[in-house]
Amino acid sequence: MIKLKENEFQAITSYVHTNYGVDLRKKRHLIEGRLSHYVSQLGYDNYMDYFEYVKNDKQNDEISVLINKLTTNHTYFLRESEHFDFYKQQVLPWVDETEKNRDLRVWSAGCSSGQEPYTLAMITHDYLGSKLSNWDSTILASDISDKVLMTAKSGVYSKEELSKIPMEWKRKYFKDYDEEYLSVTDSIRKGVAYRNFNLLSRFQFKKPFHAIFCRNVMIYFDKPTKNAVVQKFYDALLPGGYFFIGQSESLASVEHSFKYVKPSIYQKEG
Ligand SMILES: C[S@@+](CC[C@H](N)C(=O)[O-])C[C@H]1O[C@@H](n2cnc3c(N)ncnc32)[C@H](O)[C@@H]1O
Repeated sequence: MIKLKENEFQAITSYVHTNYGVDLRKKRHLIEGRLSHYVSQLGYDNYMDYFEYVKNDKQNDEISVLINKLTTNHTYFLRESEHFDFYKQQVLPWVDETEKNRDLRVWSAGCSSGQEPYTLAMITHDYLGSKLSNWDSTILASDISDKVLMTAKSGVYSKEELSKIPMEWKRKYFKDYDEEYLSVTDSIRKGVAYRNFNLLSRFQFKKPFHAIFCRNVMIYFDKPTKNAVVQKFYDALLPGGYFFIGQSESLASVEHSFKYVKPSIYQKEG
């Protein structure tokens, strides 16, 4: 194990905190444990040289590897399924009734490897059914990690991982990839637009969203970062729009203007 020196610890944690909102200032052992092997695999014998290499990578691939190693990309289809029930029963009927331009705008912010936006796309397809072609229903999905976005874009998942999704979805929305994997159908893949986007950067969207899912993402953010990001989500929503966070998260200690709907679901009052 390569020992993480105090100046290296300070340099890495302050960079990741300032630029990505990820607060690892109490995670010294985690950093050492998760990076040591990779650092020596790359041929470095200290973290500072490795960190210089990360910062000089113009493609930003290495910063995304670093963030990946220090945070978690864990996700799965239909995770926290009450949110999807709410989406089906409340959000979609509301949009269907009120959106005269037939333009559904949903954002999965911190989408990891795509299971969350594809779940939303399948529910949307089920709901709109034969009306689908009248709608622009593309879901925006973003993450800071190019690695997870690559998996997301491929839309390929193991049969084992898909064993718990409804049989009907597998029949309608997946096709064989190889013996062990299935891939989402083209209509579902086209139903999601992936972007690399850092939530700390400026939000510039042409139109406000009907719903934003930012679930299990802000867990690493400190309070000022959370306050700022939640305010940006609020501003990016249409009045009446919904905001979803992870079920183990809360906005209790965050300054915000949302109306509380139920645990982990909030609404911008119209
Ligand atoms: C645990 S996953 C959550 C996936 C999905 N939303 C879910 O609940 O299953 C958290 C994701 O947030 C992303 N993330 C962390 N900080 C971010 C930031 N500043 N901007 C954008 N994405 C970020 C990570 O790369 C990771 O893929």
